[in-house]
Amino acid sequence: MVRAISLPLQGDMQAMSRRSEADPMARALGLAARAEYATAPNPMVGAVVVRDGVVVGEGFHSGPGSAHAEVVALAAAGELARGAELYVTLEPCCTTGRTGPCTERILEAGVRRVHAAILDPNPLVDGRGVERLRQSGVEVILGQRAEEATRLIEFYAVWVTAGRPFVTLKLAASLDGKVATAAGESRWITGEAARRDGHELRRRHDAVMVGVGTVLADDPALTLRHGLEGGRAPVRVVADSKLRTPVSARLLADRTAPTWIAAAGPMPDKQSALLRAAGAELLELPSDHGRVSLPALLAELGRREITSLLVEGGPTLAGRLTTERLVNRMVVFLAPLVLGGQDALSAIGGPGVLALSDAWRLNWTSVERVGADLRLTAEI
Ligand SMILES: NC(=O)c1ccc[n+]([C@@H]2O[C@H](COP(=O)([O-])OP(=O)(O)OC[C@H]3O[C@@H](n4cnc5c(N)ncnc54)[C@H](OP(=O)(O)O)[C@@H]3O)[C@@H](O)[C@H]2O)c1
Repeated sequence: MVRAISLPLQGDMQAMSRRSEADPMARALGLAARAEYATAPNPMVGAVVVRDGVVVGEGFHSGPGSAHAEVVALAAAGELARGAELYVTLEPCCTTGRTGPCTERILEAGVRRVHAAILDPNPLVDGRGVERLRQSGVEVILGQRAEEATRLIEFYAVWVTAGRPFVTLKLAASLDGKVATAAGESRWITGEAARRDGHELRRRHDAVMVGVGTVLADDPALTLRHGLEGGRAPVRVVADSKLRTPVSARLLADRTAPTWIAAAGPMPDKQSALLRAAGAELLELPSDHGRVSLPALLAELGRREITSLLVEGGPTLAGRLTTERLVNRMVVFLAPLVLGGQDALSAIGGPGVLALSDAWRLNWTSVERVGADLRLTAEI
């Protein structure tokens, strides 16, 4: 039985922290979550040092350039780490990035046994950290609470292996699958609670993207509101092949986060100068039939260390992203109202499929009630 002081945690990890006293790996997971999605491009990681059944040190990684979780926990344990066990939610690194390799720090500290929930999917690590420890006589146990640990690093895992962000497509739709009325009105289909939940989703992602159609129709600011102001605001990205974003757009007037406008091919000089002067950074990307190539845009975002992207665009962008199978998760807020009308916009545009056998099939991962609406989550 491990004794430990219970530390206050926030949000969905509270339940985890209560269990964690008897389970150091659960405690490490709770610690990791304290970084609140602010570690990009690094993963959220937590670590606990246990000696004779007592927690003698713990820590989490809080972001690029700051110490890794194991290093924080070992420093807190000091000499008590010698002969102790280390519980860590991700395989310790054996590479030198912004900080030194954790494996060497673990060896110096004289840790007897390491429990790592999962291997680091980074091709530069991927088992090499475990190998280094084992070769140096440290016992390594893998796999405890692996599912939770995998979920914790899902953004990082896509980014580090595919070089592009994890893409979440968010929609707010009526019961009949419409995202705007025949006149283009979409504010607001869902209620206050669902909209707040949508802002919480924004806070968890490194960037949020719309197509220029949504900028022209709704003029969104794409900032954090609903009590989340002051949090880590995501970078705003607009897919805008021909630079139609007006210089008066709200997302340019608000400077709480950068705005990147992605254009296809050579950009018109005058409009690009005006948009730059208004505060936008312009990304010149290859054209795909006259529009921004989405795989190229995602690769560019990956290069810019964006590990997670929330797409809040309209049916045109959603149609293209789903057709190209570039979405990792769909979050649909479904409101109990019927808009009807053949001209009202359906959630996903584009030509669609003709045969059911060609449909893109996903799995439900959660169905929850949010105020008057439902939040449906599906994943590939
Ligand atoms: N309920 C909801 O969840 C929700 C969310 C957002 C918007 N809406 C509604 O949707 C409507 C706007 O729909 P929309 O489809 O025009 O918005 P959109 O999908 O956000 O923007 C579409 C535009 O994005 C640009 N784009 C650039 N690269 C693209 C690519 N590779 N693939 C597709 N598009 C690309 C295109 O313009 P260029 O060719 O000029 O680049 C295209 O016309 C509004 O009525 C708005 O209120 C509803």
